[in-house]
Amino acid sequence: MLTLTRRALAAGTALMLLSGAALAQAPIVIKFSHVVAPDTPKGRGADKFKELAEKYTAGRVKVEVYPNSQLFKDKEEVEALQLGAVQMLAPSLAKFGPLGAKEFEVFDLPYILPDKAALRRVTDGALGKRLFDKLQTKGITGLAYWDNGFKVMSANKPLRMPADFRGLKMRIQSSKVLEAEFRALGAIPQVMAFSEVYQGMQTGVVDGSENTPSNMYTQKHHEVQKYITLSDHGYIGYAVITNKKFWDGLPAEIRAELDKAMTEATVYANEVADKDNAEALDEMKKSGKTTLITLTADEKAAWKAALEPVTADMTKRVGKDVIEEFQKEAKGGTQ
Ligand code: LMR
Repeated sequence: MLTLTRRALAAGTALMLLSGAALAQAPIVIKFSHVVAPDTPKGRGADKFKELAEKYTAGRVKVEVYPNSQLFKDKEEVEALQLGAVQMLAPSLAKFGPLGAKEFEVFDLPYILPDKAALRRVTDGALGKRLFDKLQTKGITGLAYWDNGFKVMSANKPLRMPADFRGLKMRIQSSKVLEAEFRALGAIPQVMAFSEVYQGMQTGVVDGSENTPSNMYTQKHHEVQKYITLSDHGYIGYAVITNKKFWDGLPAEIRAELDKAMTEATVYANEVADKDNAEALDEMKKSGKTTLITLTADEKAAWKAALEPVTADMTKRVGKDVIEEFQKEAKGGTQ
């Protein structure tokens, strides 16, 4: 009896030691959920982060990437992050309003960014940091800004002049600035999760949308939209975010390796973004399923004039100081 008890105790101790060792070696799992296809700027960035994070931590961290809204759709994913069901996301900057961080909608203002160099000055500058500080109060840590690109506009009719938008139901992301943009054009904006847009277009729930070429192409929007206008009227980019409690709780040496992986993945994602969008446009053109429209100088001027009031209308929401700081940094610090 005694021997049995001793044996059982010894076995129990061995088991505990074993599970302790196994636990010590169990990798830290980071679930990185996103809503776009793997072969997009964000999809590639996430995959690159996985590769580098696993390499730099010698397998102590395992990154599981879930693309195409496999785990969560737009609205749910931020809640999932806050609850700890996933550890990393990269929502578009247009999706932070519902979280109470409406200053992020400054990126949605029409024609606010002349080019990507201006964008980089903002995201790498004081405002980029200030926006991330704002997220801390929501239990979220901002890790990086990733690019997608400038937006085009699609519909089943040619959109050349603002009047062409009248009465069209246009899908938007959950941003009040984008809502104001389409109202200024005389359209009817409808918030819809990214994963539902293709079907929405196919069934006529919406008539069109704005997005980047890479997002449109990988979701096959061009197969259900006869025209795409190369308007470049706004920008889509991302904030890579993590659960603050999770991030702060990581061993310091692991966090340092993950920071390094994120810095390199960011360079990579931003490098591939322009190429991905250019190729997507090319592919959509080659498909023969949609017609690309280039605006004349007069048409462009008409779009700008129609969209100009949006910035003034949205100043109260986004913050006058935020808009001014954005414009100053975009210009390179001189007003
Ligand atoms: C959208 O239109 O919802 C996109 O911004 C999705 C994305 O994450 O690029």
